[in-house]
Amino acid sequence: MKLLEDRIRQEGIVLPHNVLKVDSFLNHQVDPELMFAVGKEFAKRFADKPITKILTVESSGIAPAVMTGLAMHVPVIFARKHKSLTLTDNLYTADVYSYTKQTTNKISIAKRFVSPNDSVLIIDDFLANGQAVEGLLSIAEDADISVQGIGIVIEKTFQKGRKIITAHDIQLEALAQISSLENGQVHFLN
Ligand code: G4P
Ligand code: NA
Ligand code: NA
Repeated sequence: MKLLEDRIRQEGIVLPHNVLKVDSFLNHQVDPELMFAVGKEFAKRFADKPITKILTVESSGIAPAVMTGLAMHVPVIFARKHKSLTLTDNLYTADVYSYTKQTTNKISIAKRFVSPNDSVLIIDDFLANGQAVEGLLSIAEDADISVQGIGIVIEKTFQKGRKIITAHDIQLEALAQISSLENGQVHFLN
Protein backbone atom coordinates (compact mmCIF):
# COMPACT_ATOMS: atom_id res chain seq x y z
CA MET A 1 0.00 0.00 0.00
CA LYS A 2 1.84 3.03 -1.32
CA LEU A 3 0.26 5.63 0.98
CA LEU A 4 1.41 3.64 4.00
CA GLU A 5 4.90 2.96 2.66
CA ASP A 6 5.35 6.68 1.97
CA ARG A 7 4.46 7.53 5.56
CA ILE A 8 6.84 4.88 6.89
CA ARG A 9 9.62 6.33 4.70
CA GLN A 10 8.86 9.89 5.80
CA GLU A 11 8.18 9.36 9.51
CA GLY A 12 9.47 5.95 10.55
CA ILE A 13 12.43 5.91 12.90
CA VAL A 14 14.64 2.83 13.07
CA LEU A 15 15.54 1.96 16.65
CA PRO A 16 18.08 -0.60 17.84
CA HIS A 17 17.10 -4.29 17.81
CA ASN A 18 15.16 -4.05 14.55
CA VAL A 19 12.33 -1.95 15.93
CA LEU A 20 10.56 0.57 13.71
CA LYS A 21 9.04 3.49 15.54
CA VAL A 22 5.88 4.79 13.89
CA ASP A 23 4.32 6.64 16.76
CA SER A 24 3.38 9.72 14.71
CA PHE A 25 0.56 7.88 12.88
CA LEU A 26 0.01 4.43 14.40
CA ASN A 27 1.41 3.63 17.85
CA HIS A 28 0.86 6.83 19.81
CA GLN A 29 -0.56 9.66 17.73
CA VAL A 30 -3.02 8.14 15.25
CA ASP A 31 -3.77 9.49 11.78
CA PRO A 32 -7.47 8.71 11.26
CA GLU A 33 -7.37 9.41 7.50
CA LEU A 34 -4.50 6.99 7.00
CA MET A 35 -6.11 4.42 9.31
CA PHE A 36 -9.40 4.69 7.40
CA ALA A 37 -7.49 4.07 4.16
CA VAL A 38 -5.92 1.04 5.88
CA GLY A 39 -9.38 -0.17 6.96
CA LYS A 40 -10.77 0.21 3.44
CA GLU A 41 -7.80 -1.66 1.98
CA PHE A 42 -8.39 -4.60 4.36
CA ALA A 43 -12.11 -4.51 3.51
CA LYS A 44 -11.18 -4.79 -0.18
CA ARG A 45 -8.68 -7.61 0.32
CA PHE A 46 -11.12 -9.68 2.40
CA ALA A 47 -14.28 -8.66 0.50
CA ASP A 48 -15.12 -12.23 -0.52
CA LYS A 49 -15.04 -13.53 3.07
CA PRO A 50 -18.19 -13.82 5.22
CA ILE A 51 -16.81 -11.75 8.12
CA THR A 52 -19.07 -10.99 11.10
CA LYS A 53 -16.52 -9.46 13.48
CA ILE A 54 -13.03 -8.01 13.67
CA LEU A 55 -10.71 -9.32 16.39
CA THR A 56 -7.57 -7.54 17.63
CA VAL A 57 -5.46 -6.96 20.78
CA GLU A 58 -5.16 -3.74 22.73
CA SER A 59 -3.74 -1.20 22.38
CA SER A 60 -2.12 -0.54 19.02
CA GLY A 61 -4.33 -2.95 17.08
CA ILE A 62 -7.46 -0.99 17.96
CA ALA A 63 -7.09 1.94 15.53
CA PRO A 64 -6.67 -0.14 12.35
CA ALA A 65 -9.21 -2.70 13.60
CA VAL A 66 -11.91 -0.10 14.26
CA MET A 67 -11.40 1.45 10.83
CA THR A 68 -11.66 -1.98 9.24
CA GLY A 69 -14.87 -2.59 11.16
CA LEU A 70 -16.17 0.75 9.92
CA ALA A 71 -15.34 -0.15 6.32
CA MET A 72 -16.88 -3.64 6.65
CA HIS A 73 -19.84 -2.63 8.83
CA VAL A 74 -19.09 -5.16 11.56
CA PRO A 75 -18.25 -4.84 15.29
CA VAL A 76 -14.71 -4.91 16.62
CA ILE A 77 -13.56 -6.83 19.71
CA PHE A 78 -10.17 -6.16 21.22
CA ALA A 79 -8.60 -8.71 23.52
CA ARG A 80 -7.43 -7.18 26.77
CA LYS A 81 -3.99 -7.71 28.26
CA HIS A 82 -3.39 -8.68 31.85
CA LYS A 83 -0.28 -9.61 33.80
CA SER A 84 -2.25 -12.40 35.45
CA LEU A 85 -5.86 -13.45 35.74
CA THR A 86 -7.67 -15.22 38.53
CA LEU A 87 -11.35 -15.18 37.53
CA THR A 88 -11.53 -16.58 34.02
CA ASP A 89 -14.90 -18.36 33.96
CA ASN A 90 -16.49 -15.85 31.63
CA LEU A 91 -13.42 -15.36 29.46
CA TYR A 92 -11.52 -17.01 26.66
CA THR A 93 -7.82 -16.52 27.42
CA ALA A 94 -4.40 -17.17 25.90
CA ASP A 95 -0.80 -16.56 26.94
CA VAL A 96 1.23 -14.29 24.68
CA TYR A 97 4.99 -14.20 25.04
CA SER A 98 6.75 -11.08 23.81
CA TYR A 99 10.28 -11.71 22.55
CA THR A 100 10.82 -7.96 22.45
CA LYS A 101 9.84 -7.38 26.06
CA GLN A 102 10.60 -10.89 27.36
CA THR A 103 7.34 -10.97 29.27
CA THR A 104 4.21 -13.07 29.08
CA ASN A 105 0.81 -11.43 29.09
CA LYS A 106 -2.51 -13.12 29.29
CA ILE A 107 -4.98 -11.82 26.74
CA SER A 108 -8.69 -12.36 27.05
CA ILE A 109 -12.06 -11.68 25.52
CA ALA A 110 -15.44 -12.01 27.20
CA LYS A 111 -17.36 -15.09 26.12
CA ARG A 112 -20.54 -13.08 25.72
CA PHE A 113 -19.19 -11.14 22.74
CA VAL A 114 -18.58 -14.16 20.51
CA SER A 115 -20.58 -17.14 19.36
CA PRO A 116 -19.71 -20.16 17.21
CA ASN A 117 -21.60 -18.52 14.33
CA ASP A 118 -18.97 -15.80 14.13
CA SER A 119 -16.42 -15.61 11.32
CA VAL A 120 -13.68 -13.23 12.29
CA LEU A 121 -10.96 -11.21 10.64
CA ILE A 122 -7.89 -10.74 12.86
CA ILE A 123 -6.20 -7.34 12.54
CA ASP A 124 -2.95 -6.17 14.16
CA ASP A 125 -0.53 -3.30 13.78
CA PHE A 126 2.74 -5.28 13.56
CA LEU A 127 3.67 -8.81 12.63
CA ALA A 128 7.06 -9.62 14.14
CA ASN A 129 7.28 -13.00 15.82
CA GLY A 130 3.59 -13.79 15.43
CA GLN A 131 2.87 -14.38 19.10
CA ALA A 132 -0.03 -11.94 19.36
CA VAL A 133 -1.73 -13.50 16.33
CA GLU A 134 -1.07 -16.98 17.71
CA GLY A 135 -2.80 -15.95 20.93
CA LEU A 136 -5.82 -14.67 19.02
CA LEU A 137 -5.95 -17.87 16.94
CA SER A 138 -5.88 -19.91 20.14
CA ILE A 139 -8.77 -17.87 21.57
CA ALA A 140 -10.71 -18.34 18.32
CA GLU A 141 -10.15 -22.08 18.51
CA ASP A 142 -11.36 -22.25 22.12
CA ALA A 143 -14.42 -20.19 21.18
CA ASP A 144 -15.11 -22.39 18.15
CA ILE A 145 -15.00 -19.33 15.87
CA SER A 146 -13.77 -19.56 12.29
CA VAL A 147 -10.91 -17.23 11.33
CA GLN A 148 -11.39 -15.99 7.77
CA GLY A 149 -8.27 -13.89 7.47
CA ILE A 150 -5.41 -12.06 9.13
CA GLY A 151 -4.67 -8.44 8.23
CA ILE A 152 -1.41 -6.82 9.34
CA VAL A 153 -0.54 -3.16 8.88
CA ILE A 154 3.26 -3.56 8.98
CA GLU A 155 5.04 -6.89 8.60
CA LYS A 156 8.73 -7.39 9.32
CA THR A 157 9.39 -10.21 6.88
CA PHE A 158 12.81 -10.94 8.38
CA GLN A 159 11.20 -12.17 11.60
CA LYS A 160 9.39 -15.47 11.95
CA GLY A 161 5.75 -14.35 12.21
CA ARG A 162 4.63 -15.18 8.67
CA LYS A 163 6.17 -18.63 8.81
CA ILE A 164 4.32 -19.43 12.02
CA ILE A 165 1.00 -18.12 10.71
CA THR A 166 1.28 -19.74 7.29
CA ALA A 167 1.07 -23.12 9.05
CA HIS A 168 -2.59 -22.33 9.81
CA ASP A 169 -3.54 -21.99 6.14
CA ILE A 170 -5.41 -18.71 6.63
CA GLN A 171 -5.28 -15.82 4.14
CA LEU A 172 -2.66 -13.37 5.42
CA GLU A 173 -2.44 -9.81 4.07
CA ALA A 174 0.20 -7.27 5.09
CA LEU A 175 -0.12 -3.70 3.80
CA ALA A 176 3.57 -2.86 4.16
CA GLN A 177 6.30 -5.49 4.16
CA ILE A 178 9.69 -4.54 5.53
CA SER A 179 12.52 -6.86 4.59
CA SER A 180 15.28 -5.13 6.53
CA LEU A 181 15.96 -2.36 9.04
CA GLU A 182 19.71 -2.74 8.86
CA ASN A 183 21.96 0.33 9.20
CA GLY A 184 19.00 2.46 10.20
CA GLN A 185 17.40 2.10 6.75
CA VAL A 186 13.91 0.85 5.96
CA HIS A 187 13.87 -1.57 3.05
CA PHE A 188 10.57 -2.80 1.66
CA LEU A 189 10.12 -6.21 0.09
CA ASN A 190 10.38 -5.78 -3.72
P1 G4P B 1 4.72 -10.51 17.98
O1 G4P B 1 3.38 -10.25 18.55
O2 G4P B 1 4.71 -10.45 16.47
O3 G4P B 1 5.34 -11.78 18.50
O4 G4P B 1 5.64 -9.32 18.41
P2 G4P B 1 6.75 -9.15 19.55
O5 G4P B 1 6.47 -10.01 20.71
O6 G4P B 1 8.08 -9.24 18.89
O7 G4P B 1 6.44 -7.65 19.90
C1 G4P B 1 5.84 -7.20 21.09
C2 G4P B 1 5.18 -5.87 20.88
O8 G4P B 1 5.98 -5.02 20.05
C3 G4P B 1 3.83 -5.92 20.19
O9 G4P B 1 3.10 -4.83 20.65
C4 G4P B 1 4.20 -5.71 18.72
O10 G4P B 1 3.11 -5.22 17.99
C5 G4P B 1 5.29 -4.68 18.87
N1 G4P B 1 6.27 -4.63 17.78
C6 G4P B 1 7.02 -5.63 17.28
N2 G4P B 1 7.89 -5.15 16.39
C7 G4P B 1 7.69 -3.81 16.33
C8 G4P B 1 8.29 -2.75 15.61
O11 G4P B 1 9.22 -2.92 14.81
N3 G4P B 1 7.79 -1.50 15.83
C9 G4P B 1 6.79 -1.26 16.71
N4 G4P B 1 6.39 0.02 16.84
N5 G4P B 1 6.19 -2.23 17.43
C10 G4P B 1 6.65 -3.48 17.22
P3 G4P B 1 2.40 -4.89 22.05
O12 G4P B 1 3.34 -5.21 23.17
O13 G4P B 1 1.26 -5.82 21.91
O14 G4P B 1 2.01 -3.42 22.35
P4 G4P B 1 0.82 -2.45 21.95
O15 G4P B 1 -0.09 -3.13 20.97
O16 G4P B 1 0.15 -2.12 23.21
O17 G4P B 1 1.52 -1.29 21.31
NA1 NA C 1 0.32 -4.90 18.61
NA1 NA D 1 2.61 -2.37 19.43
